Amino acid sequence: MQTPAELAALHKQTFNAAPKLYAAPGRVNLIGEHTDYSGGFVMPAAIDFSTLIAISPRTDGHFFAHSVNFNEHIDKPISELLTVRAKSWSDYPAGVLWALREKSIDVSAGFSLTIVGNVPLGAGLSSSASVEVATAFAVLGTLGIDMPLSEIALLCQRAENAFVGANVGIMDQFVICCGKQDNAVMIDTRFLTYTLAPIPPDVRIVICNSMVKHTLADGGGYNTRRAEIEAGLHILQQHRPEIVALRDATLDDLARWGSEMSEQSLRRCRHVITEDDRVLAAVLAFQSKDLTRFGELMHQAHLSFRDDFEASCPEIDILVNLANKQTGCYGARLTGGGFGGCTVNLVAADHAAAFTKAMHVGYLNATGITAEIYTSRASAGAHAISV
Ligand code: GLA
Repeated sequence: MQTPAELAALHKQTFNAAPKLYAAPGRVNLIGEHTDYSGGFVMPAAIDFSTLIAISPRTDGHFFAHSVNFNEHIDKPISELLTVRAKSWSDYPAGVLWALREKSIDVSAGFSLTIVGNVPLGAGLSSSASVEVATAFAVLGTLGIDMPLSEIALLCQRAENAFVGANVGIMDQFVICCGKQDNAVMIDTRFLTYTLAPIPPDVRIVICNSMVKHTLADGGGYNTRRAEIEAGLHILQQHRPEIVALRDATLDDLARWGSEMSEQSLRRCRHVITEDDRVLAAVLAFQSKDLTRFGELMHQAHLSFRDDFEASCPEIDILVNLANKQTGCYGARLTGGGFGGCTVNLVAADHAAAFTKAMHVGYLNATGITAEIYTSRASAGAHAISV
């Protein structure tokens, strides 16, 4: 991908204007899946793949965005852009402009954007949220508006929910705003507070891309799962009205009233309730540097994601099973929304190279697919870049 200086030069050449530059990372989630729209806990980290945006203001009311990755551009009056979805990459930056305008921020003068990124697409590493947050930082920076990070995260989530049409939670946008180098971020999604969990220096986050594409746009399995959870929640609330979200419910509640739910709702709710407990235990394990315990919790989380949430797929299960056989691997699980994408693996640093090699060979032999495998450190959240 282009360096920031190359991107600035490209932007200048296209628009004849000196840009400002912004970067936003992707993310990987260590543990805590599908808990972020039930007021629960998650533990993601920003990764060192990112979206870079060069931006300059316009005066003609147009939004001109050039995607280097897709080698495409859109050029539309803002008013037109914000009424119809294009069902393409441009919906993510457009959705953010839509959400800014909804917050009564004046975006009518228009902007020129050059966008490039290396977050793998459709891999469950939040390439979409990365583009959203980079766009929000870029537009707010250009307008000179200082907005709290949690508000930027909420704004980008709103763009994805209401404009793109994926009913996602807050995790991705939040960690992309608040990530910190060499730290995982334990987020309490009810209160939007977070604590940093330093990643021990002798461990690596290895991400294995199954190459089975996962997509959240238009919802698909994601929205169905969410609806199943809401149906289950509704039943619990009839008995215990003080339950505002599944975070407030217990396994005991499920034992008493789960029989009134569909089998699917019961399983989805059980996943969420047990996953919240696992995240809290995982934070303690990390704090006491007990990586073996952390890895066990990752494993339990995967089984719950696979069996109760039913959002894994055969290729991902092959990756997890292979990882569990490798020396130095503490834990492995499907990360992100599910239905394909990547596994996240916590691996002892001195075994990371051998682990990567064994995963390549084993996965190719089992599936005929060449996995992409990335070793990432936890990285910083979105920021301006000076060139
Ligand atoms: C996607 C969503 C998040 C979260 C995860 C599952 O990444 O964007 O809000 O729900 O799936 O944990």
